[in-house]
Amino acid sequence: MMEWAKIASGSEGLVLFTRDGEYLVSVDGKELMSSYCHVSEDALATVSRRCTNLPRPKILIGGLGLGFTLAAYIKEFGPEADLTIVEKSPDIIDWYRKYTKRNSIGDLDDSKVHFICNDISQYNPENCFDIIALDVDNGPEAICGIHNQTLYDRPGLKRIFDQLNPKGTLLLWSAFDSDSYVADAISSGFQVTSEKIDIPEEGWTHYIFICSK
Ligand SMILES: C[S@@+](CC[C@H](N)C(=O)[O-])C[C@H]1O[C@@H](n2cnc3c(N)ncnc32)[C@H](O)[C@@H]1O
Repeated sequence: MMEWAKIASGSEGLVLFTRDGEYLVSVDGKELMSSYCHVSEDALATVSRRCTNLPRPKILIGGLGLGFTLAAYIKEFGPEADLTIVEKSPDIIDWYRKYTKRNSIGDLDDSKVHFICNDISQYNPENCFDIIALDVDNGPEAICGIHNQTLYDRPGLKRIFDQLNPKGTLLLWSAFDSDSYVADAISSGFQVTSEKIDIPEEGWTHYIFICSK
């Protein structure tokens, strides 16, 4: 197999690589994401669709990564969907536009998507959302910066609770199960269930925490 070839270096230790039409981003030398498998990103969008019967729900996604989660939401909710994506790294947004978008989005139309370059833990939207979907770390543990802990602790969960419409739902992608996150979400006012996604070909099990108001 070919070696990964470096395409670009960004700030905060981010590096973008490519090999055989696939992409990989590392942070401080460790893999953060790659384009090889996006089964559970796709599931995040399908589960979100089940969480609301609104024809055009207001959806907030954090973060962009290589664009697979975004692609899944455009497929599931349509090109006219009210999608806002918050990504803290300007490099990731730049790489998406220059390189990775072709791989993840393909022919899908992202022209109606609101792209916001910000830290989602610091983002104060003017209006509430029906769906907030978080896939910024590996799960409810801050690996992409210490501030991310405020997305998973009780004050952070309460803040997200207040950013949701009355029947809104928070969905959290995770590579591991977490009883403590479930307990914190419940004590912040949510009703919580989780969906387990087995990906036998990779030997992975991923989780989606579904936190409903
Ligand atoms: C694991 S990747 C997401 C991969 C994505 N599901 C995809 O389709 O490729 C995490 C992304 O979230 C971004 N991120 C991490 N912390 C963030 C934050 N606090 N606010 C916004 N974006 C953040 C990272 O820069 C990275 O692009």
